[in-house]
Formats: sequence, C-alpha cells, structure tokens
Amino acid sequence: MDAATANPPLTVLGIETSCDETAAAVVRDGPAGPEILSSVVLGQADLHAAYGGVVPEIAARAHAERVDHAVEAALARSGAGLATLDAVAVTAGPGLIGGVLAGVMAAKGIAAAAGLPLVGVNHLAGHALTPRLTEGLAFPYLMLLVSGGHCQFLRVEGPGGFRRLGGTIDDAPGEAFDKVARLLGLTQPGGPAVERAAATGDPARFAFPRPLMDRPGCDLSFSGLKTAVLRARDSLATARGGITAADRADLCAGFEAAVADVLAAKAARALAAAGPVAAFAAAGGVAANARLRARLAEAAAGAGVRFVAPPLALCTDNGAMIAWAGIERLRAGGRDGWDLPARPRWPLDALSAPLYGGGRRGAKA
Ligand code: KG4
Ligand code: ZN
Repeated sequence: MDAATANPPLTVLGIETSCDETAAAVVRDGPAGPEILSSVVLGQADLHAAYGGVVPEIAARAHAERVDHAVEAALARSGAGLATLDAVAVTAGPGLIGGVLAGVMAAKGIAAAAGLPLVGVNHLAGHALTPRLTEGLAFPYLMLLVSGGHCQFLRVEGPGGFRRLGGTIDDAPGEAFDKVARLLGLTQPGGPAVERAAATGDPARFAFPRPLMDRPGCDLSFSGLKTAVLRARDSLATARGGITAADRADLCAGFEAAVADVLAAKAARALAAAGPVAAFAAAGGVAANARLRARLAEAAAGAGVRFVAPPLALCTDNGAMIAWAGIERLRAGGRDGWDLPARPRWPLDALSAPLYGGGRRGAKA
C-alpha cells in the first residue's frame, strides 16, 4: 500500500446514481489498506428493457425512489452506523442529470442530518481510481475506461490529476456491442451475447474496418464499424434471404476482433505516449471481454508494463468506487459545500481538447 495508509482511518459512504444503477457502499481505509464493508447495486435493466436503451426520465424516477433503500442496505450490511462515518461521497457528474440530482440531494440530506462532510466525486474519477482500491496501484498509471458510456485513455497522476491521451469521437464500444447485438437479433446487454456468439465464429471471414488506424494518436471511432456489420448482414440477407447461425457467429467474431484490434493498437500508442507508468489498467463493462482483455494484456507486455483489471463487479458502476474516490479526495484536503452542483458534463481533464462524442450518455469529456 502507499502513503495513504499512514493517515488516520476513514470510513466513507459512497452514492452512485449517474446512469442505470442505484448504488451505495461503505468503504473503510485503515492501516491494513482499504476494505469494502458493503456494496449494494440496484440495477434498472428490467425498467428499460422494453425501450432498447436507458430512458432518462425512468432512470431519474427510479433513482429518486431507490437511493434511500440502497443507502439503508449499505449501512446495515456494513455494520457501520451513520455515527461511524467520516464523510458522504456522491457522484456529482457526469451523467444523466435527473439521476445525478437524485444522488446529490440524497447525499446532502444525509450529510446535513448527520453533521458529516460532503464530497462530490467525478464518476470517471471513480472508475479511474478503482485500481488503487483493488490493487493498491501507485501513481502514475495508464487507464483505459471502456464501457457503454465511456471510452478513453487516461494517465492517472493523482487523486485529481488526469491527463486524457485519447478517446472515442463517436460511440462508446459497449454501445457498438449493444447495437450489433440488436442488428443480429441477440439479447441485451449485447456485449456478453456477442461474445458468446463470436466464440464459434471465424474472425477473418468479414474484413471489417479498423477505424482511425491511419490517424496518429489514440482517438477511436466505433460507429462506422457498426454500420459495416449492418451492411454485411444486409448483403447476406439479400443474397440468401436471411442469415444463418454460422453467419451470425462470423459477424460477431469479425466485429469483436476489429474492436479488440483497434483498442490494442491504440493502447500500445497510449503506453508509448504516457511515459513511465506503474501499470496499465482497464475498467468498464467491455473490459469483461476475454478477447479484448488478452489483447490489452499483450499490449502491456509489449511495453514492459503490468496489466491489471479490477474484478468485474468493481469495473461496472458501483458505490464503492465513489466512496474510495471520496476518500482519496478527503486525503488530499478536498470537500464540498451545500452548493455542490449536479453536472451533466464534467471532463476529467479540462486541459485537453474536447472529444466530439462520448457514448450514449452524450458528450462527456
Ligand atoms: O460499465 P458498464 O456496466 O456500464 C456503463 O456503460 O457505464 O458497461 C456496460 C457495457 C454494455 O454496453 C455491455 O454490452 C458491455 O459493457 N459489455 C461487454 C461485455 N460485458 C458487458 N462488451 C463486450 N464483451 C463483454 N463480455
Ligand atoms: Zn460508469
């Protein structure tokens, strides 16, 4: 563990409501390192299933209704009452504004009632600092956030120090997996369904594009790839009146290989651009993909850097990462007043030029 553990212990409640998971957790950082005392994630997939995507109004209402239950359950399971907490941390953006507001209001209420400090956390910082919670990584390290809402390479330099080296200019990769699944009649979320279908497919049958490979730097694009899958499906359907299970497997394998290829190639570039780093970490739902993980690990090995991926439950949205990022901010002397705003957009790296896209939650970085 690093120097943080020399500090007095801190026990923090973290609240996350920025997309479609209502989550709360209690994390304690003591002399033996950080420990997740409880982590409760109330998913909303059932509420949005009929609409083929997250409906902001439904999400906001569900967060407002459930956030208290998530907090109650997290406190009860942790064995830590309000009186043993040192602070309340909450995602204050970026994300769907109605959800973020529900979390920020709940956190303010709890902190005010219990006389605790309030700490606003950037959702992306929560993801990016998770490898310090799970692996005790030292700064600086390179991070790839890759999910349905995010895709960016970050050089993580400190609790508030993030340099973005590149990211998607349109869709996030998870969004592309979900759309490809929809095109091929597979179930949602699309990533696991596409990965299962790809397992028996031939990744070389369809020559899908490797977008932006000819452009220097680490930016990525996934929307053309999704269109290429659509065209391949349509031309098969026109020629033969439909697609077979084997066609579907080959389309999935070709798509998955293209995503893994571009992310691995850009990871190698990001590692070269990052300078000396302690490790390369990947997080986000898409980091669950085995082919992608293997390719990212190869890129890290090629650069002589250790590859780490936090356990899946901590790669996807959760309250523990927010509690931990809150602990990191508190240790650095940060806290917020009652005027803490809820922000739909909040780039982690305000100095780098904005990206054009940023996934289904809109441009975020
Ligand atoms: O991080 P996450 O749970 O939520 C956010 O988007 O913030 O990521 C969910 C995304 C979905 O788009 C899902 O299809 C994708 O991660 N995903 C995968 C896999 N498992 C989940 N994509 C590819 N392969 C997988 N095994
Ligand atoms: Zn997230």
